[in-house]
Amino acid sequence: MALLSVRQLSVAFPAGDRWLPAVQDVSFEIARGETLALVGESGSGKSLTAYALLGLVPRPGRIVGGAILLDDRDLLQVPEVEMQQVRGAKISLIFQEPMSALNPVLTIGSQLVEAMTVHGLGGPNPRATALDLLATVRMDDPPRRFAEYPHQLSGGLRQRALIALALSCRPALVVADEPTTALDVTIQAEILNLLRQLKLEFGLSLLLITHDLGVVAHTADRVAVMYAGRIVEQAPVRQLFRAPAHPYTQALLKAMPGSVHSTHRLESIDGQVPSLRDLPPGCAFAPRCAWQHEACVVAPPELYPVSPVHQSRCVLVRDAAGMPRA
Ligand SMILES: Nc1ncnc2c1ncn2[C@@H]1O[C@H](COP(=O)(O)OP(=O)(O)OP(=O)(O)O)[C@@H](O)[C@H]1O
Ligand code: SF4
Ligand SMILES: [Mg+2]
Repeated sequence: MALLSVRQLSVAFPAGDRWLPAVQDVSFEIARGETLALVGESGSGKSLTAYALLGLVPRPGRIVGGAILLDDRDLLQVPEVEMQQVRGAKISLIFQEPMSALNPVLTIGSQLVEAMTVHGLGGPNPRATALDLLATVRMDDPPRRFAEYPHQLSGGLRQRALIALALSCRPALVVADEPTTALDVTIQAEILNLLRQLKLEFGLSLLLITHDLGVVAHTADRVAVMYAGRIVEQAPVRQLFRAPAHPYTQALLKAMPGSVHSTHRLESIDGQVPSLRDLPPGCAFAPRCAWQHEACVVAPPELYPVSPVHQSRCVLVRDAAGMPRA
């Protein structure tokens, strides 16, 4: 059974007398111990999907449909007071910019102790538990870091502190929103290694949001590709890289340079993501797609099965016309 099952999640923002669909009918599952990567260009709805899981969609945005089942309980039906327990204790979030998540006026140690105490964890000696956590995230010299303030740490160490904080309540699911984008390449690789190790050590499930397909290839088990608020392709990593079945994914892979350490971003493919105010009537990717034809502009395509574990939102798959190879 999946740990997390997101079903037809939709998030919208008001604009005059309309609601703009920033996330539409997004469905995915994450098993225990599994890493799902969510990829897509800027504005495709990745962060909103992540925030929705934690009940943190920024106002005036609203979840306008769907269900988020964590261990079979729909989080969208859980009252806000209880959601505060879910955040941290069941699902925790690691941001791109750790400074915004760490409290600048508290030491790393007191933040860890406080987080554990709020959730009734930490044991008889919270300081020792916090030091253990700092060692778990491979922090050099845990006693020294325990006593330091966030501004005294480098970017990479701050991200480690944030990961320690995210783990302090022993969550089942960690959502990491571009956790390494702000870091330099060497530190990026170290943090990703750490996440991989922690996933194995604690059997964590991970929702990893990233722009970087190199990161996906080396960290994720499965991938969901988002475009203009919808998932357009979903598959196990190897399958997606070997036989992408959506022209958007094909374009992304084509634009991806060989190096896994590349900082190359997805914006490099021609054209732009359509504005939510002005979505095409059919396939949202049509204006950029070399394979566009009449059937593409009638209605938004559904997610069609390519295999039992692989889906693509492209009419070429439905029509079994054979997917053009990139
Ligand atoms: N506070 C807001 N007010 C109005 N619209 C918003 C707001 N936040 C997000 N949106 C809309 O939702 C879309 C998706 O935003 P989201 O932050 O999820 O994108 P993203 O995929 O995480 O992009 P990035 O890679 O840049 O982080 C945006 O393009 C924007 O149109
Ligand atoms: S549905 Fe048509 S426009 Fe959209 S990705 Fe497939 S071929 Fe291209
Ligand atoms: Mg984002």
